[in-house]
Amino acid sequence: KRVGVLISGRGSNLQALIDAAKAPDYPAELVLVISNVAGVQGLARAEAAGIPTRVISHKDFAGREPFEAALDAALNDAGVEILCNAGFMRLLTESFVARWHDRHLNIHPSLLPAFKGLNTHERVLESGAKITGATVHFVRAAMDDGPIIAQASVPVNPGDTPDILAARVLEAEHKLYPHALALVASGAVRVEGEHVVGMTQQN
Ligand code: GRF
Repeated sequence: KRVGVLISGRGSNLQALIDAAKAPDYPAELVLVISNVAGVQGLARAEAAGIPTRVISHKDFAGREPFEAALDAALNDAGVEILCNAGFMRLLTESFVARWHDRHLNIHPSLLPAFKGLNTHERVLESGAKITGATVHFVRAAMDDGPIIAQASVPVNPGDTPDILAARVLEAEHKLYPHALALVASGAVRVEGEHVVGMTQQN
């Protein structure tokens, strides 16, 4: 399957997908990386891997719809079949999300549906939770919402700061995202009644 990735920054999850896709039997190929921010590390990672990149800045458009029309045009030109958000920091409209229904993945650094949104690790620590994790899910219009494809659990340790916890969760993310994308790209899973069914498993 031809995969496009939306990023806004560092791109360490993008790097995990790039590395996984090097395996000859990996069922997905990264054909386009789009960043809404110029000059970010994720773009350099894609370029180093020989993957075509585009910068499409929301600031260059009069609103969400024309911004998203530009995203769609670039994705369609590249023949993208599956779209992955990897640290993409813009909310997308209902109509964009509808066009990519069940073909659009996101990763979030918590065990959803707990701790949606920003400052996740800070809020996990404040809550006193002893286990957190990472989730890859199909995108729906609501933020960090949608059928869960795969999750990994990560312990919260005494003395953790948000940064220390983020680093531990990020390691889990880097294993989880390639695994979840492979499940979708290979057709091992599908959405039924807003749940992902098929060969789902913990990594
Ligand atoms: C990750 O923690 C991801 O779960 C969250 O934003 C971070 C992006 O990191 N949505 P990176 O750009 O992939 O390094």
